[in-house]
Amino acid sequence: MTALDKLFAAARLVRENAHAPYSNFHVGAAILTDRGTIFAGCNVEVASYPEGWCAETTALGKMVAAGETTVHTVLVMGEGGRLTTPCGGCRQRLAEFAGPDVTVHVADPTGIRASFSLGELLPASFVLADPA
Ligand code: THU
Repeated sequence: MTALDKLFAAARLVRENAHAPYSNFHVGAAILTDRGTIFAGCNVEVASYPEGWCAETTALGKMVAAGETTVHTVLVMGEGGRLTTPCGGCRQRLAEFAGPDVTVHVADPTGIRASFSLGELLPASFVLADPA
């Protein structure tokens, strides 16, 4: 099994735990780090709609909580029939821990539908070169 296969499997599995009773749009995200660890997360919706958050955010939080901070590859899995690309906020959150050359695969449960670099998804992103 390749690292990409593992990333795909992790996103598909975690997507089953999506808490999406309002949109019924289930998303799983899996992050492979530079150390070879995979962190997976699902979207979590809340009755006060704007308080919910995306699958990518859950996965990033798990990565940081585990003490890792460098993203190597990302895979986001939504439903079939549309490209579940990361939202604008998640692109910025990913850019905190991933360079512009990091690949973001966009998938549905049947396979990878498209692949982008983070730089394509968030050109000219705002980053602090030397955070305080
Ligand atoms: N969502 C994600 O989790 N990730 C994305 O990349 C796009 C959207 C979630 C947010 C919300 O729970 C649901 O999908 C519908 O927008």
